[in-house]
Amino acid sequence: MATQTATSAIVILDFGSQYTQLIARRIREQNVFSVVLPCTASLQEINAYAPAGIILSGGPCSVYDADAPPADARVLSLGLPVLGVCYGLHFMTHNLGGKMRPAQKREYGHAEVEILDGSPLFKGLPRQLSVWMSHGDEAEQLPPGFKLIARSPSAPAGMEDRARNMYAVQFHPEVQHTKMGTELLRNFIFDICHAAPDWTPQKFIDETIASIKQTVGNGRALCALSGGVDSSVAATLVGRAIGDRLTCVFVNNGVLRKDEFRKVQQNLRDRLGLNVLAVDASARFLSKLAGVSDPEKKRKVIGNEFIAIFEEEARKVEALSGGVDWLVQGTLYPDVIESRSVRGPSQTIKTHHNVGGLPEKMHLKLIEPLKDLFKDEVRRIGRDLGMPEEILQRQPFPGPGLAVRILGEVTAERVRLLQDADDIVVTEVKSAGLYTKLWQSFAVLLPVMTVGVMGDQRTYAYTCAVRAVHSEDGMTADWAQLPYDVLKKISNRIVNEVKGINRVVFDITSKPPGTIEWE
Ligand code: XMP
Repeated sequence: MATQTATSAIVILDFGSQYTQLIARRIREQNVFSVVLPCTASLQEINAYAPAGIILSGGPCSVYDADAPPADARVLSLGLPVLGVCYGLHFMTHNLGGKMRPAQKREYGHAEVEILDGSPLFKGLPRQLSVWMSHGDEAEQLPPGFKLIARSPSAPAGMEDRARNMYAVQFHPEVQHTKMGTELLRNFIFDICHAAPDWTPQKFIDETIASIKQTVGNGRALCALSGGVDSSVAATLVGRAIGDRLTCVFVNNGVLRKDEFRKVQQNLRDRLGLNVLAVDASARFLSKLAGVSDPEKKRKVIGNEFIAIFEEEARKVEALSGGVDWLVQGTLYPDVIESRSVRGPSQTIKTHHNVGGLPEKMHLKLIEPLKDLFKDEVRRIGRDLGMPEEILQRQPFPGPGLAVRILGEVTAERVRLLQDADDIVVTEVKSAGLYTKLWQSFAVLLPVMTVGVMGDQRTYAYTCAVRAVHSEDGMTADWAQLPYDVLKKISNRIVNEVKGINRVVFDITSKPPGTIEWE
């Protein structure tokens, strides 16, 4: 799909810093479109965005390293305003005739910086700035034409060549620890680049719908819906563009949460007006899962079966209506950045994307309307599209569903037990007002039977674990300290209401060393 045609883009060249995406987010929060390109991007790729300015990100290397990221130094002579951040400052210094050297004292973490007189980059900022540093090199000699605009106790912290509209700082304005970092970025994008704050949800929606209309023409598209935020927002956007020529396939794989098959259909069909083809294949999935207890095997069985069903349904749609050319996917921007980052396809890409394999197998062309967006932006777009909060605020749910939360073999009886227990966890977490504050909160069914007593009766039944975590992106997570009264209510309700579970335990493991899911 065509790239957004924002009028004021800021291009960020990624030299490998863990904070690069944050720069893009901070700028977008100002309603200015920004893209992250690998530092190796060609001038043509950069110019395709007609940027109002360029930011050179931080990075882990030294400019003198043999494996220093290769970038085209001509980005410094495009006549565009440039802001170097940390490694960006080193890159500018090195390529514009200055000199770098290893810092006498590595600076990492909080630092105090003194702002010198008058740079437009620091307009409205105090003379003393608390910032976040992380670097091992420092500028020994500024390039010709540059003057010092900030210094830390041990090194130059900022420089400018106002005539050429070039600025650089040694610290990271994009991280929260840098007080007033956002003001600094605002000074750059508005006062120096003169970017217009025209990147709004409505503009994105209008442009995306227009672009999908044009790309798909009279063609037909399919979308695999999971009920989650990304696929639902992607489908809604495409639905607005091509109406019933989009068919959304929603499969009950037998390991959805309680009532989910019905609720998702209701939300998507009745509330969003999408053309939903709901396929109840639970019996088929459960029979394939019989006897399987290895977690990776469960994932494979579910993944393969899903693809088989999706292909069958696609053939039915084709038979009814002619060809289908397009497949809609809810790929987000962080995945796009990761897959083309300077470090190469990153280790961190999730291998367990639930519809992985579909496009290659089916020879469909991809529509990825969210591929320029971060998760919080997707929610904002969804809200402007009038989608219910229930969908937009939904916690992540794995493609293989409850199958990876039922340890050991998955049976219809165990699915029912876990659905009931999980429903109680989610309901109580919601009624305590905690649902949207947690990354995930759910129940896990353990293949452990323990003795209990209810009334005068001895029981011998399953154990259920409650898991609740805080996380930014699922890569690391802290176990959440749920209040005791919430835990008490959950435990009481599960033991009393779910016949077959007589013990509840709470998981207090963070990630690492644990994972979020138990399998
Ligand atoms: P872990 O358990 O690896 O989970 O710490 C990290 C995040 O990924 C989700 N997850 C999955 N999502 N298919 C998915 O679509 C899977 O097989 C899968 N396994 C884990 C998990 O829920 C958490 O958000």
